[in-house]
Amino acid sequence: HPPVSQMEETSLLRRANCRSKGGASGFKVAILGAAGGIGQPLALLMKMNPLVSVLHLYDVVNAPGVTADISHMNTGAVVRGFLGQPQLEDALAGMDLVIIPAGVPRKPGMTRDDLFNINAGIVKTLCEGIVKCCPKAIVNVISNPVNSTVPIAAEVFKKAGTYDSKRLLGVTMLDVVRANTFVAEVLGIDPRDVNVPVVGGHAGVTILPLLSQVNPPCSFTPEEISYLTNRIQNGGTEVVEAKAGAGSATLSMAYAAAKFADACLRGLRGDAGVVECSFVASQVTELPFFASKVRLGRCGVEEVLPLGPLNEFERAGLEKAKKELAVSIQKGVSFIHK
Ligand code: NAI
Repeated sequence: HPPVSQMEETSLLRRANCRSKGGASGFKVAILGAAGGIGQPLALLMKMNPLVSVLHLYDVVNAPGVTADISHMNTGAVVRGFLGQPQLEDALAGMDLVIIPAGVPRKPGMTRDDLFNINAGIVKTLCEGIVKCCPKAIVNVISNPVNSTVPIAAEVFKKAGTYDSKRLLGVTMLDVVRANTFVAEVLGIDPRDVNVPVVGGHAGVTILPLLSQVNPPCSFTPEEISYLTNRIQNGGTEVVEAKAGAGSATLSMAYAAAKFADACLRGLRGDAGVVECSFVASQVTELPFFASKVRLGRCGVEEVLPLGPLNEFERAGLEKAKKELAVSIQKGVSFIHK
C-alpha cells in the first residue's frame, strides 16, 4: 500500500483531472494571502463554489493549517496549500483566476493610501509570479490602495509584455454590497432586491454611488442623499473604527470578493448578461483606470459600460473623485518606473 499522503494525493489528482476533462465543470482558482482576515473566509466561500474544481491557497504564513482545515469540507474543489515565496510559482501554475487579498489592512486613523509603502511591493512581487506562471489568468486585486495597486499590476504586466487590460480587475464590489445594504435600509426593502451602481474608485471621495440610478427606480430627499453618500464612502472606516486596531472589513469583504469571483467565473463559462462594477482600464473618463459597470465574459472584461446620466450632485462628486484618482493612479505607475 502507498503511504496515506500519497494515496490522498493520487485520489485528489484523479478528481481534479476528471473535473477538468469535464469541460464546463470547473475552474482553477488561487487565493494569494489566503491565511489572512479576508483570505480565510474567502477560501471557505470559494471551496463552496461549484464552479471551482481546484483551489490553491498561498500565503507567507499559516497556509498549511488553513488548507488542512478547508480541505475537510465535502465540496467538489480540490484544495492545495502553498507556503512562502519558494512555492509561489507552484501555487500559480495553470490558474484561471487569481484573487489577491495579500497585504496589511488599515488601523484607526489610517487612509488606504497609508498602506501603499508595504502593499505596493507585495502586489508587485505577486504579479511577477503571475507573469511567469499564469499570464492568461483573470486577476482580481483586493489589496489596498486598489486605486494604486491595479495600476501597479498593469505596469508589471506591461513591462513583461503580458498585459491584457481585460483580465485585470480591481475589486470594488464591497462598495456596491454596502450601498445596496444602506439604500435598502432607507427604503425599507430587502437588500437583495436593490442594485446601486458605485463608480470611480475604492477610497473616500473616489467612491461615487450613483443614487440617481438605483434599481428599482426610487427617489431620495437631499438629506437621504447626503447621509447615504457619506455612509457608503466611509463604510470601510466605520468597520476599521469598530474593530479598534484589529483590522478592517474581512467578512463582508470575503463575501463581496466571493460574489465578484463567481461573476468572473460565470463570465469565463460563457454566461450572458454578467454585469458588475469594477476598477478597470477604462475610456469612460479621461483617466486610464476607473470603476464602473463592466460586462464579464470569456476573456474577462468584455465591455466597459458608460456611466449613464448623472445629476448635478453626482457630476460634482465625479470631478472630486477624478482629481484624487489621477494622483493615486500616477503613484502606482511611478512605483514601477522609479
Ligand atoms: P490580513 O493582515 O488579515 O491578511 C493579509 C494576509 O496577507 C496575511 O495572511 C499575510 O500573511 C498575507 N501576506 C502578506 N504578505 C504577503 C505576500 N508577500 N504574499 C502572500 N501573502 C502575503 O489583512 P486583511 O484584513 O485580509 O486585508 C488584506 C488586504 O485587503 C488589505 O490591503 C486591505 O486593505 C484590503 N482590503 C480591501 C478591500 C476592498 O474593498 N478592495 C476591503 C477590505 C480590505
